[in-house]
Amino acid sequence: MSQKPPPKQFIKTPISGTKFTLLISSAKGGVGKSTVAVNLAFALQNLGLKIGILDADVYGPSLPKLLNINEKPKSEDGKAMIPVEKFNAQCMSMGLLVDEQTPMIWRGPMVISAIKTMTQKVLWKDRDVIIIDMPPGTGDTQLTFAQEVKVDGAIIISTPQDLALLDVKRGIQMFDKTGVKILGLIDNMSYFEGDDGKEYKIFGESGVKKTALEFNKEFLGNIPLHEDLRLSADKGEPLAHTKPQHKVSLIFNKIAKKIYEKLV
Ligand SMILES: Nc1ncnc2c1ncn2[C@@H]1O[C@H](COP(=O)(O)OP(=O)(O)O)[C@@H](O)[C@H]1O
Ligand SMILES: [Mg+2]
Repeated sequence: MSQKPPPKQFIKTPISGTKFTLLISSAKGGVGKSTVAVNLAFALQNLGLKIGILDADVYGPSLPKLLNINEKPKSEDGKAMIPVEKFNAQCMSMGLLVDEQTPMIWRGPMVISAIKTMTQKVLWKDRDVIIIDMPPGTGDTQLTFAQEVKVDGAIIISTPQDLALLDVKRGIQMFDKTGVKILGLIDNMSYFEGDDGKEYKIFGESGVKKTALEFNKEFLGNIPLHEDLRLSADKGEPLAHTKPQHKVSLIFNKIAKKIYEKLV
């Protein structure tokens, strides 16, 4: 009689200095994940929470640009790093450690070691939530987080078109297999509101919502394609922070509230 080997148990280390850790993920690049991650983080701050943002995209860090940070993290003992503070958020990104122009030519094990450093050797302090902006895909970084870091949930961002959704299904299955709770899906660049007040569904309609239903996950909301979101991202001043009453910020605030209610 053949016996099945027992499932492998992973030791998941929590990030210290925070109550909750949240992954913001997308299976594909360019769906606006970093923009949504940062605005969601500040929407959580708008709820009165103390936030941290960890940019886990080692190959394509974008946090320094999205928050216009030029400072390097300091260290008192040469081992642990103090996150850089911006708009009352504690921030860490590989982009703060290396020159923006320097390409990261790293193999998998180096990426894994960088992720371990950023989750274990950063002195996050007194945070309610750390929001982690994940790289796209289902590679080494995702696996390291799923297997070795204690996270409280993942949120998947997508745009409504079919190609993006195929990747989303892969992303959902990866988290399901590794036992990471998916708190819900967000549809970004959902529609464009014209001067005529009409909503134009440029990338199709309700695809993300349908995928959420299909996989029995919660659909958290639609974020429109809006120039102010792009302009504020380019300036390094996230809309949810600088204009918390902007109609797009109100959408982020609403989604943040839903997410927080699922965490506590
Ligand atoms: N809802 C949106 N409306 C307008 N522009 C957006 C929106 N979401 C993202 N963008 C823009 O799209 C580009 C890619 O977004 P980014 O967050 O870097 O994507 P990703 O992290 O998925 O690669 C950026 O220029 C960003 O400002
Ligand atoms: Mg990004």
